[in-house]
Amino acid sequence: MPIADISKNAGLPENRLVCLLRQLTAVNIFREPSPRVFAHTSASVVLTDPKFAYTMDLILHKVDVDFKIAGYFSEAVDLWADKMDNVQKPELRTAFNLAFKTDQHFFDYIYSPENISRYGERFNRGMVGETTELLDEAFDLYDWTVFNTGDKIVDIGGGLGHVGANIAGRVKSGVEIVVQDQPSVIEQGRTIHDSVTFQPYDFFHGEQPVIGAKVYYLRHILHDWPDEICRTILRPLHQAMDSDSKLLICELVVKDDSFWAIGKNDKDLIDGWGPEKRHWGVRSMTMSMIFNAKERTDAEWHKLLDSVGFKVCQVYGYSLDQSIIEAAKQ
Ligand SMILES: C[S@@+](CC[C@H](N)C(=O)[O-])C[C@H]1O[C@@H](n2cnc3c(N)ncnc32)[C@H](O)[C@@H]1O
Repeated sequence: MPIADISKNAGLPENRLVCLLRQLTAVNIFREPSPRVFAHTSASVVLTDPKFAYTMDLILHKVDVDFKIAGYFSEAVDLWADKMDNVQKPELRTAFNLAFKTDQHFFDYIYSPENISRYGERFNRGMVGETTELLDEAFDLYDWTVFNTGDKIVDIGGGLGHVGANIAGRVKSGVEIVVQDQPSVIEQGRTIHDSVTFQPYDFFHGEQPVIGAKVYYLRHILHDWPDEICRTILRPLHQAMDSDSKLLICELVVKDDSFWAIGKNDKDLIDGWGPEKRHWGVRSMTMSMIFNAKERTDAEWHKLLDSVGFKVCQVYGYSLDQSIIEAAKQ
């Protein structure tokens, strides 16, 4: 498409667009078959597939929010790095707080009435976009057919219900999937999925309302929080669990530091630096910048869970894009 047409569609001046599009051609997103005419590559055309509509929300969230936060990371480290584990509220001493000039936590900020339409609802759709391609891979790791009619699976912080709906398609009929999240998120989710039960629940306020479920499932929740707050989230689940209940945590879990220690020389590094490492690195940095949190290693997960009275039964899919830690009450 000629730049004049793109400019008209986007409502942006040609010269600014050319600069941007040429940068994207440099990383193989779009190509310039003739001067000032741009075309899709196999990388960019994916974004026109309706299946990836919510992936655009994720990209816009990254550009509008995460990139801005990244610019404040060094300032946050200068101010707080040596105090991160000691300050009273490490989750509020972040590059996010500096970038957005707020004392609120990220989630309180994006779900506040003035920000929910620009940031909150888009973030929730972005979480769906982030998982669109990963869901089957993540769920094939676990046998969801062992549960029977009347059993409950609770997805805590389940967002718009995209994960719960995928599980609902894998369990036997009569197994109830309960998706819990903050009230505004639940309202947004209800309009999308009807194969799950939505329930407003703030995991910092009050007891877990579903007692004795077979599974309490946390996907991409604990990586958002420092250890002490993870314990606050986990304790009500421990109390709600029966002896045969399972806690399932879906995160990216690396077995130990040998996952990283591959750089004996440049060739080793290039051969061994796969997508999982890049993904783990980017995610861990993102959690650090926004939340003062991180992706955890196997040993860190064991320590955290042990401190709240859980024992790890098994870890499925070490060092894959997604892993599942299965734990029970000690
Ligand atoms: C990173 S998203 C993960 C969403 C979903 N589990 C997934 O895997 O795509 C974190 C989720 O935690 C939810 N959350 C944050 N604070 C919460 C709270 N206090 N109580 C319940 N849910 C909360 C957010 O609304 C969001 O849906």
